[in-house]
Amino acid sequence: MAKRIDVSGLTAYYSAHKAIEDISMTVEPRSVTAFIGPSGCGKSTLLRTLNRMHEVTPGGRVEGKVLLDDENLYSSSVDPVTVRRTVGMVFQRPNPFPTMSIFDNVAAGLRLNGRYKKSELNDVVEKSLKGANLWNEVKDRLNKPGSGLSGGQQQRLCIARAIAVEPQVLLMDEPCSALDPISTLAIEDLIGELKERFTIVIVTHNMQQAARVSDRTAFFNLSAVGQPGRLIELDETSRIFSNPSVQATEDYISGRFG
Ligand SMILES: Nc1ncnc2c1ncn2[C@@H]1O[C@H](COP(=O)(O)OP(=O)(O)OP(=O)(O)O)[C@@H](O)[C@H]1O
Ligand SMILES: [Mg+2]
Repeated sequence: MAKRIDVSGLTAYYSAHKAIEDISMTVEPRSVTAFIGPSGCGKSTLLRTLNRMHEVTPGGRVEGKVLLDDENLYSSSVDPVTVRRTVGMVFQRPNPFPTMSIFDNVAAGLRLNGRYKKSELNDVVEKSLKGANLWNEVKDRLNKPGSGLSGGQQQRLCIARAIAVEPQVLLMDEPCSALDPISTLAIEDLIGELKERFTIVIVTHNMQQAARVSDRTAFFNLSAVGQPGRLIELDETSRIFSNPSVQATEDYISGRFG
């Protein structure tokens, strides 16, 4: 199958600190890939190298390549702002723009991208909120602030905002860790629907969640505290959770680690 993302020999630093080392992996289109592994192994760092957010952190730099549909995101001709539009991101804590209405939160990225007629904006906002399974809950209060929604609704609002600009890839860093179990299931169902249209990479500490939502799972680990994180194993999720190739993966998923 064609690879949407192809990472090779990727090492990422925060100033002198090497956070992840020599990561090579691929991500297939229209699939969900889960990143799992202990705290500090570099899951968030790797995720942020996939849309050039890593370099926004002072001292953040990378070596190696990340190809998106065969184009190296790190080549000098590539504009990081365009990359971030193509590769969207949803964060751990829902972060709607607090002073903006629900409508404006979803429309924000589109407005940055250029001029839209009011009717076009209406259509995209409705479609995105429907895509994020939030439309029915907010359609009568689109002009109310996004910050007035529940945590789970705010996270779906952030997903609506991310998908409104039609990214090719959606990166999600522990998107459910601040949510209750019902909102978590709503987001998981949504991920299942979104993968029909987008390529999704999700970081999670929840093994059941990785097993439920992902097609492939990547396990990362550290050889010792302070050492860079490495990719230990990437395989079909069913295989990672039933019969992984590496003992460290088995130990981690069964809770025998540390
Ligand atoms: N802004 C930063 N400045 C300096 N070092 C950082 C920064 N962010 C992360 N690091 C370091 O990079 C390494 C990887 O961190 P990262 O946040 O990617 O891990 P993680 O796997 O996402 O952990 P968690 O599961 O706790 O979210 C750690 O050693 C961490 O201390
Ligand atoms: Mg993290």
